[in-house]
Amino acid sequence: MEILIKNARLRNVNRLVNIQISEGKITSISGNCKEKAEIEIDAGGRLVLPSFSDMHLHLDSVMTIGIPRYNDSGTLQEGITIWGEYKKKINKEEMKNRARLACEWNASHGTTRIRTHADITESTLSALKGLLELKQEIKSLIDLEVTAFPQDGIMTDKQNQELLEKALELGADNVGIIPHQEFTREDGIKSIEFAFELAKKYSKNIDGHVDETDDENSKFLEVLAANTIRNHYEGRVTAGHCTAMHSYNNAYAAKLFSLLKQANITVVPNPPINIHLQGRFDTYPKRRGMARVKELIQCGINVALGNDCIMDPWYPLGRGDMLHSLYLCVHIAQLTGYYELINSLDLITINSAKALGIIGNYGIEVGKKADLVVVDAFNELETIRDQPARLFVIKAGRLVASTEKRNSHVLRSGKLDPLSFHVG
Ligand code: FE2
Repeated sequence: MEILIKNARLRNVNRLVNIQISEGKITSISGNCKEKAEIEIDAGGRLVLPSFSDMHLHLDSVMTIGIPRYNDSGTLQEGITIWGEYKKKINKEEMKNRARLACEWNASHGTTRIRTHADITESTLSALKGLLELKQEIKSLIDLEVTAFPQDGIMTDKQNQELLEKALELGADNVGIIPHQEFTREDGIKSIEFAFELAKKYSKNIDGHVDETDDENSKFLEVLAANTIRNHYEGRVTAGHCTAMHSYNNAYAAKLFSLLKQANITVVPNPPINIHLQGRFDTYPKRRGMARVKELIQCGINVALGNDCIMDPWYPLGRGDMLHSLYLCVHIAQLTGYYELINSLDLITINSAKALGIIGNYGIEVGKKADLVVVDAFNELETIRDQPARLFVIKAGRLVASTEKRNSHVLRSGKLDPLSFHVG
C-alpha cells in the first residue's frame, strides 16, 4: 500500500512537506510533490508526529472496574486486594477481549506500541498466556511487549519464583519486579538480584515497578541501578512509577540521579495513576506523588510515560490516550515553560523509542518505518493543550485508525455557526 501525506508540518522543520510511504517505510520527504498514491491525505498544515508508545499498561485488568467491588479507599493496597479476588477466576478469552478493546482505543489515539504487564502470580498464568496470544493476533495494530509482572512479590512465595521463570520460558519479553511489595527490605534486594539472574539466563530486559509508595524510606531504585551497573545491563532496565522519589531529600535525590544516569535507566512515571493513588495517607499538604520528571530530564535521564490503568481496581477512569497522560504530566511536573511544553512530546515519542531499543528505525525520516499520526492541530502546543482528534494513524505503512475532526457549533447572530478551536 502506498500513502502520500501532503502539506504536513513536522517538529523542528519550518516548511510544509509531503511524506511518501511505500512498503512500510518512509520513502521520501520533500517540499514539492508530483507523485500519486493509493491513499492521499491532505494534512493542510497540521502536525504529523511519529506514533506514540505506552510504556506501562496493565492490559489484564483493564475495564474490570466494580468486579467484584469498587475501590472505596482509592489506595494502591485496596486495588491489589480487589484484583487478587478477581484474578482467582480470570478467564483468558474474556481478558483478551477487554485487552483487545484497550489496544484499539490506544491505536485510535495514535499509540502503536504498548509495553504491558501480565500478572504472573496467579498459578494458571492465564493473563500471561492470553496476552502472549494477543501479541500475535494484534500485531498489525499494536507492537505489544509483555512483561512478566510479579504483582504479589517474588520472594513472598517460592511458587512466585517458579511462575516468574515459567513465564519467561513461555515467551514473556521482560522480567518484572516489585521490590517495595516484598515482605522486607532484605527480600526486596534479593528479588532484584533474582530478577537479574533470570534476565541473564533468558536474555531478557528488566521492566520493574519500583518504589510505588510515598514512603521516603523506600529506596530500591538505587539497588536496581547498582545491580544494572554490576551486571552490565546499562540501557536495558526500565523503572516504573518511582513515586517515593517525590519524597526523598534533595541531597539523596542528587546522588540517586547520578547513579541512574550511570546505569542508563529509563524512568517511567504514570501521571494519572500516580496523582490518583499517592498522597492517600497525607492530610494537608498533600504530596503530588510523582517522580521528579523535570529534574530527571534536566539531569539527562531518559523519561518516558505510561497510562498504567484503564477502568480497573486501581483507577476508575482512563481512555488509553498518551496525550492525556502527557497533559497531566506537564501539570504535575510543572513542565509549563514554553520550550518545556514543546519538548515534552519527547516523553511519549522519542524517549520511549530509546527505552524500547528501536530508536534506529523510529521517527519521521526517509528509510525509517512509517509509524505516524496526523493530529488535528497545527503545532506542538495545540497538540498538548487540546488533545485533538488523531485524524489518521499509520502503522508500518498501513492506515490502521482514523477519527473525524471535531464538529462543534455555537449560537452567533441568531444561528448556529461552526466553531474553531484553533488559535492563530
Ligand atoms: Fe503498574
